[in-house]
Amino acid sequence: MTKTKNTSGIGNAISRVEGHLKVTGKAKYASEFPVENKVYAQGINSTIAKGEIVSIDTSEAEKLEGVLKIITYKNADKLKGFDKEMTAIATDTIAPVLQSNKVKFYGEYVGVVIAETFEQAQYAARLVKFEYKEDASAVIDFDKSRNKSYTPDNDSNYSRGDMKKGLAEADVTVEETYHTPIEHHHPMELHAVIASWENGKVTAYASQQIVEDATISISSTFQIPKKDVRVIAAFVGGGFGSKLNLERHVILAVMAAKMVGRPVQMTVTRTQMFTNTGLRQKNEQIMKIGSKKDGTLTALSHETLSHTAQNLEFQEPCGMVSKMLYKVPNNEVTYKLIPMNIQVPFAMRAPGEATGSFALESAMDEMAWKLKMDPIDFRIKNDTQTDLHEERPFSSRLLTECLRIGAEKFGWKDRKMEPRTNTEGNWLIGYGVSAASRNSPYQKTHAKVILELVEGKVNATIQMDATDIGTGSYTIIAQTASEYLDIPVEQVSVELGDSDFPVTPGSGGSWGAASFCNGARAACENAVKTLKNNRNIKESEEISVAELLKKNQLTKFEAEGMAEPSAEFEKYSVFSFGANFSEVWVDKDTGMYRIKRMVNVGSAGKILNPKTAYGQIIGGLTMGAGMVIAEQSHIEPNFGNFITRSFADYHVPVNLDMANIDVIFLPEEDKIANKMGIKGIGELGITSVAASIANAIFNATGKRMRSLPITPEKLIEAGLEDGVTA
Ligand code: MOS
Repeated sequence: MTKTKNTSGIGNAISRVEGHLKVTGKAKYASEFPVENKVYAQGINSTIAKGEIVSIDTSEAEKLEGVLKIITYKNADKLKGFDKEMTAIATDTIAPVLQSNKVKFYGEYVGVVIAETFEQAQYAARLVKFEYKEDASAVIDFDKSRNKSYTPDNDSNYSRGDMKKGLAEADVTVEETYHTPIEHHHPMELHAVIASWENGKVTAYASQQIVEDATISISSTFQIPKKDVRVIAAFVGGGFGSKLNLERHVILAVMAAKMVGRPVQMTVTRTQMFTNTGLRQKNEQIMKIGSKKDGTLTALSHETLSHTAQNLEFQEPCGMVSKMLYKVPNNEVTYKLIPMNIQVPFAMRAPGEATGSFALESAMDEMAWKLKMDPIDFRIKNDTQTDLHEERPFSSRLLTECLRIGAEKFGWKDRKMEPRTNTEGNWLIGYGVSAASRNSPYQKTHAKVILELVEGKVNATIQMDATDIGTGSYTIIAQTASEYLDIPVEQVSVELGDSDFPVTPGSGGSWGAASFCNGARAACENAVKTLKNNRNIKESEEISVAELLKKNQLTKFEAEGMAEPSAEFEKYSVFSFGANFSEVWVDKDTGMYRIKRMVNVGSAGKILNPKTAYGQIIGGLTMGAGMVIAEQSHIEPNFGNFITRSFADYHVPVNLDMANIDVIFLPEEDKIANKMGIKGIGELGITSVAASIANAIFNATGKRMRSLPITPEKLIEAGLEDGVTA
């Protein structure tokens, strides 16, 4: 690595390079591009959960001023269908819509109105009349449909050792069921697209996390060459997984643009985001843990029952954490899914870990309590440097250090083992802890650097199709160029989110930072190396890029680079680790509670920018707290529609709900992970937060709360007044 002579290279807590664009409104999000001559589309949603459309009356809507077209299954473009029924969902999957009169869930798109203005489209959409033949066999009640569950066909079930034997060897066992509800992603920026179709070529300004996959989805759905599709996602206002894959509004907008011959803007409304842009599925998780008296784990199993759509499979991998977090010889992970008539679930921030670690880390706390062991000591006793699931070592794992350092910072020594013994007035005070893990799947990434010599100084532009979903990609990529070209960050421009730029894996799964920065690094290193080689300058010689361009008699120079996981990477399990600590105060009469303090310690490789990284973890902790205090989507049990339809009834934490938060990153560079030593943090922050809060609530009240969200009503129902019952 080059020596940093400036204070803006990697590791420095600089402010966001794109910050001024955002606060001045100059950063353009999908629906803000000034595309000439554009018109507006409004999707129409089904009002039954299962059945057939028997008639459509568009006459009234068509009479309205400004209405250009109404598309339903009757006149929609014939699109490529799924290759088979029950295709597992993928980010680059084809996305057919309006292909038949069949309805499979409440809120499914059954039509789209295109009009000159947004208001005209919205109004007209309400005037289109659909008549349905309803099928009473719709599956909308999870509890009543357990007999319909099946084992998903995706090879996720797993076992090692012998669970029965492990439980028989145990002195103490815990067997409990944990519930997490349906949640929705709800990024601030609504899903949106402006699509044009000109001479068989598509341009789409779209709010997507992965530009390359969006391009593939459009080209394969419309069966046009990929080179004829351009996707632009310059700024994305959050995604949390809901913008990983291409949702149907993009296909509808492209189809509409083709049919009306004008660019079409389609924005999904906040209410439609409950039915048309993915969700975190409801999970019922049964944990079985066996332990020796001294805290040595003998057995651990994790069974998950969840739901998917009727024609499309998605399964949140809740059991992932239970396969690798602890040293336990006998281990089993299983999944069952109920096909339901609601929209297909999809990945939501830390899919698997966020919910799975609620179950695992609550159950671990229950076991520690039964053993009368400190829950930190219990975890440390079962720590391991080997991933027993993959049967290979972790590239680095500082979980014990995270727990120890966090305990020190948090003041864990003041925790009382016995619930309801730490009080102040009417408040019952509890401390909770949990361990977190999230894999860091670094992926192949391309980047281009353009160097220009202007008045003796080098300006660099980095181009890649990477996205910034609010995470700080612009900033850390600029810092990477600053580092490897040894120029101040002010001389670096970063251009992202355009499928004309070199291909990256996009933003998701905690792979963005490591992938993007190593790609940008490779491009910068190639530029310097080529400029040196051209003039027979030794690679070890320290010489500025400006000097190099001068020696090459160049004022402009471009280079590309590619980074990908090494052979070494494949021999290890590469995960980030962390520990969460929470202090909760519960009112002993009303069950109302406050999260007073949170401490998060993370070991996630090289921290590129402590300021943006801190923001990522705070966001994760807030979303984790949201799982406990508020977030849940409700399905109406007779008709199958979501009755949570806006932020008025789908609650997320506000500033007042949040605690004093301390975030600590352990100094680390994981060179096995990649050359720059980076791991992921985007999903680490939410992982196991819910368990640390639930465990604190137990420590405060003596009530074990196994169903999220934990509302004051649930605490009262659990007999808050009666003292310790677990
Ligand atoms: Mo994440 S759920 O891969 O955006």
